[in-house]
Amino acid sequence: MKINLVNESFDSLQSDLEVIFVLNKDLNHKSIKDKKLLESLNFKAEDEEVVLLPESKKIYVGCEDNSYDCIAVAISAAVKKLQSTKFKSAKVKLLDGEASTLKALVEGAALGAYSFTKYKSKKTKNKQELFIVTKNSSKELTKTFNDSLIIAESVNKTRDFVNTTPEDFYPKTMTKEAKKISKLDDITLKVHGEEYLEKNKMFSMLGVGRASRHESQLIHLTYKPKNAKTKVVLVGKGLTYDSGGLSLKPGDSMVTMKSDKAGACMVLGALNAIAQLKLPIEVHCILGAVENMIGGDAFKPDDVLTAKNGTTIEVRNTDAEGRLVLADCLCYAQDKIKDIDYIFDYATLTGACVVGVGEYTTAIMGNNTGLRCNAIKNASASGEFSTSLPFNRHLRKLVKSKIADTCNMATSRYGGAITAGLFLDNFIYKENKDKWLHFDIAGPAYVENAWGYNPYGASGAGVRMTVEFMNSLSLDIDKKCQAK
Ligand code: BES
Ligand code: ZN
Ligand code: ZN
Repeated sequence: MKINLVNESFDSLQSDLEVIFVLNKDLNHKSIKDKKLLESLNFKAEDEEVVLLPESKKIYVGCEDNSYDCIAVAISAAVKKLQSTKFKSAKVKLLDGEASTLKALVEGAALGAYSFTKYKSKKTKNKQELFIVTKNSSKELTKTFNDSLIIAESVNKTRDFVNTTPEDFYPKTMTKEAKKISKLDDITLKVHGEEYLEKNKMFSMLGVGRASRHESQLIHLTYKPKNAKTKVVLVGKGLTYDSGGLSLKPGDSMVTMKSDKAGACMVLGALNAIAQLKLPIEVHCILGAVENMIGGDAFKPDDVLTAKNGTTIEVRNTDAEGRLVLADCLCYAQDKIKDIDYIFDYATLTGACVVGVGEYTTAIMGNNTGLRCNAIKNASASGEFSTSLPFNRHLRKLVKSKIADTCNMATSRYGGAITAGLFLDNFIYKENKDKWLHFDIAGPAYVENAWGYNPYGASGAGVRMTVEFMNSLSLDIDKKCQAK
C-alpha cells in the first residue's frame, strides 16, 4: 500500500473509493450521504465496523472517538476492505487538519495493510494507494507524515524479522540484519561470537546457547550523531528459538516461540527509525542472539553458571533462559559503555506477564518510579499500551538461592513477571539502578487473535513506544517526571 499526503481540493482528487469516518455512531452527520442505505444494511458504526457501497464508491467505517487508537484502528479496517477489492485507490479527508490525527491515519493504514507472505507460494502484489487529503499543508504536517511513515515501516520490518521461521532466522541472521541497518548514517557495528563470550567470562549467556548448532552472537550497534544530547542503551532478548531447553516446553507452548527474539528485533526496528529520524541522541543497541535447544551438551537444571560480573546463578529451570542471556548483555553494556544516562531492556520474558496484564500490554519495571511513569506516558502517546509493575523487598527474596548468589527461578509461582525483573536487577550496577527500566513485551509481541491493526503474528510491539520515548528524552521535556 502506498500512502500519500496531498494538498488539493478533496472533490477534484481522482480516486476509486472514498473513506468516510462515522464518528460517535452519528449517522445523522452531514458528511453521511447514504444514511438510509446504511440503516437498511444494519450498519451501526461500531468500532471497526466497515461497509463498502460500490454504487456510491464509498467505504464507511465506524470510529468511536478521535483518539489515536480509534482512528488508527478505523483506517486500518477501511484499508483492509480496500485490499479485499480490485479497486486501486481510496481517499480520506484529514478533517481536523491536526498532526496527531495524520500520525494515527498514516500509522494505522501502514500497519493495517501489512501482511506476511514469505511462506505463501502465491504472493499477491499490492499496488493500491491511499490518499490523505488536507486543505492546508504545513511543514509540521509534512514532517509528521514522513516521520510516521518511517516509524510504521520500522514496525513492519520488526514484524518481518519476528515472523521469519527459526530455520531461516538464527543468531547469525540477526547479525546479517544488524549489518544492513548499520549502513544508515552515524551507525557502527561490533559483533562478538562465542570465543569472545568465553574470553570475557559470559558463561550465563553461553550456557543457554550451548546445545544449539548455531553460534550465539552478541551484537553491539552504536548510533552516534554529532549533536547527541543524551546516551541511551537498549538491550534486547534475541532467543531465535526457545524450546525451553531440557526443561522442555509442552508442544502447544512451544509453537510461536520463534517470537522469543521479539525484544532484539524490536530494538533493531527502533534503531532503524531513530537513525532515519536523525534523533539527536546516542543510542547503543546490545542484542543477545541465542537459540535454546536440547542435546547432550545442553545446560541443565542444577547447573551453576557464572555471569560476567561474577554473580553465580543456580539454574532450576532452563526455560527461564531469557534472563540468563540478558544478565550477561546488561553486564557487557555497563562495562563497555561509560556514563550511561539510561539503560532499558526489552524481552518476551515471562508467561506470567501475559497472565498478569493481558495480551495487549507491555509491563514496565524498575527502581525509579518517575522514570517508569515517563515511559508509560510516552508509550501511550505512541499508541501502545503499557503499565507499571512494582518491585518490593519481599518479592526480591524469592530469587535467592541456597547454593549460589541467585537463582533463575523464583521460589513462588506468584508474581513471576516481577521476580524475573528482580533477577535482572542483580546485574544492574549501583550507579545505574535509577537509570534502568525493564520492558516485558511477552503479551503484545505476538498476536494469536488479530486485533485492531495487528494481523496474526508479530506485532512489532515496543518500536513505537521506544521511538517516542527517545524523542522525548532528546527534547528534554520530561525531566520532572524522571526525578525519583
Ligand atoms: N519465552 C518465554 C516467555 C514467554 C511465554 C513469552 C509465553 C511469550 C509467551 C520464557 O523464556 C519462559 O519460558 N519463561 C518461563 C519462566 C519460568 C520457567 C520461570 C515462563 O514464563 O513460564
Ligand atoms: Zn523460556
Ligand atoms: Zn524465552
